[in-house]
Amino acid sequence: MHYLKTLAIAVATVSALPAVAAESTFEAVKISAGETLFETECRRCHSPDADKESYGPPLENIVGRAAGMSPDYDYSTALEASGIVWTPAALRAWMEDNDGFMPGTKMRHVGIEDRTVQDFILAYLASITTVDNSAVSK
Ligand code: HEC
Repeated sequence: MHYLKTLAIAVATVSALPAVAAESTFEAVKISAGETLFETECRRCHSPDADKESYGPPLENIVGRAAGMSPDYDYSTALEASGIVWTPAALRAWMEDNDGFMPGTKMRHVGIEDRTVQDFILAYLASITTVDNSAVSK
């Protein structure tokens, strides 16, 4: 009896959760899937931590930032002169066909065409972007 009452309360609580909670669950799932994909597709060249060097530039705070802004990284001329901002759309194009998108880049072709995979990696990159880049990107 007591158990049933507890269950009833639990069910009532769950169904009363606002849509926001469900949304944040989806977001958390996307971020964690994105982290796993980042580990397999990007991590061998990119640190997610701006203080840690990697073969490619670290990707902390990359979403919304102008290209070529990592202070200690020796970028290709193509990337440095590109003048692009890493919007979600630009990051998608980059994941899909980076050397087609920016001829002359020294990042070797990755070719992630699956939009869901791009979505997950984007969610993860957004989660490690904790600063507002709007000022940097103008
Ligand atoms: C084999 C190594 C390698 C892999 C794998 C790789 N990258 Fe890169 N990436 C690089 C290098 C090298 C650069 C610098 C390119 C240049 O200067 O032209 C770069 C540059 C970038 C930049 C530009 C950063 C800036 O500061 O402007 C982004 C964004 C990026 N990579 C995202 C990714 C993502 C997302 C993945 C995984 C889907 C990935 N890269 C996989 C080597 C790699």
